[in-house]
Order: sequence, then structure tokens, then C-alpha cells
Amino acid sequence: PEDGGRPALLLDWYDRHRRRLPWRPPAGERADPYRVWLSEIMLQQTGVKTVGPYFEKFVARWPDVDALGSASLDDVLRMWAGLGYYSRARNLHACAVAVRRDHGGVFPDIEESLRALPGIGPYTAAAIAAIAFGRRTMPVDGNIERVVSRLFAVEEPLPQAKPLIQRLAATLLGAGDAESRAGDVKARAGDVKSRAGDSAQALMDLGSSICTPKKPACALCPLNEDCVSRARGDQETFPRKAPK
Ligand code: ADE
Repeated sequence: PEDGGRPALLLDWYDRHRRRLPWRPPAGERADPYRVWLSEIMLQQTGVKTVGPYFEKFVARWPDVDALGSASLDDVLRMWAGLGYYSRARNLHACAVAVRRDHGGVFPDIEESLRALPGIGPYTAAAIAAIAFGRRTMPVDGNIERVVSRLFAVEEPLPQAKPLIQRLAATLLGAGDAESRAGDVKARAGDVKSRAGDSAQALMDLGSSICTPKKPACALCPLNEDCVSRARGDQETFPRKAPK
């Protein structure tokens, strides 16, 4: 099989090791699009640790997108103070207003419609579509670029390699009828194809805890036996970067 059982190995690892983060619901429950959107905007230029308390403050004050869209921009900017990159807060407010006005207060569940909203680019649209709506799409951030470029030993440098990395990352969503080499792992991971959001977040967690830029902990990686760069011992040299 093309994917060699990787999607199931990844999800099985996620089920056992996923980070508990404020915007992630208990295992098996579908995430709230509002919370996914809010967290993804906050996480764009800010780390998980800093975002946590801000995220909690926001959802306590504005529990849904309708409430946030009814708030004044000044209140939103005040609550954002300290997170930086204030255009994010302006777009956040504009997006909430647009969802209220144009979508009846309900986030659209189609990537293209999400992308049309203020502050939502291709990455964030894919993240919301996969994590909140279970769409089979892969949001590729810097962490995922690193994991995927190592796994497949992508020789093409960034940024040119982005479309290739996007295609390779999508193979980790499950190829469909491919039989896994590890049948019991596949059974534990459940229906891989319906778990796009978990697959994406598994790669994010892998990138932040194991497949780190320096000294990746390959011995702990669920994909280590499949990792082309690790087999050659040059994993730290990925992703390749075009000379400046
Ligand atoms: N970084 C961006 N989105 C994330 C998510 N959903 N979980 C963990 N880290 C992230």
C-alpha cells in the first residue's frame, strides 16, 4: 500500500500522547468551530503556552462567534493586549461580524467559504475544515513542513517545495482502501479517513515534541521505521532551504 499504514500509526500515537490543550475537546468529541478558529488565529504568531490564558479569557467573555461579533472592536483590542500583531485582532473582530451578518452566526463548513472571511488564509481555512468539520484536508504549518520533509526526504528546497509537501502531507490522511501493515494499530486508530483533524494535530504535536528542529527524538517517533531521512541519518538537514 502507498501509505504503508502511516496514517493509522500516527493516529494511534496521537490517541496515546496528544497534548491536552484548552481548545481541544475530549477524545472522540467534535471540536467547536468557534474555538478552533479563535485558537488558530491566536497561534499564528504566538506559542501554545502564551495563547492558553488568552484563549480562556476570550471564550469566558464571548462564548460564541455571535457574542464576539456583537462586541466593540475596542473591547476586543483591549482583551488582545499583549498578544501582539494587532491586525489579527482587527481581522478577528471583522470575521466575527461577517459570520454574524453573512452566515447567520454559523461558521461555513466549506474551505473556500472559510477562506473568503477576514483573516482566514489557506492554512487557517484547512485547519478549521479538518479539525471542526472533519473535512479531508491538511493544514500545513512550519511544524508539519518539517515532519513531512523529513519523512519523505524532500530534496526540493522551501519555499518551492510547498506544493509537493502539501501533497505528501495529504497522504497522511489515509488513502482509503489501502490495507495497513499493522492491522491491530489500524483497528485502534479507528476510521482513519474520518479523522483528518486529529491527523493534522498529531503532526503538529509530533513536530513540537519529537520531530524538533534540532536533535529530533526519532526513537520515540511512531513513523520512525518509515522515515526516509532517518534511515540515511540526515534528518536534521530537512527541510531544505533555498540559499538566500
Ligand atoms: N498550532 C497551531 N494549531 C495548533 C493546534 N490545533 N494544536 C496545537 N498546536 C497548534
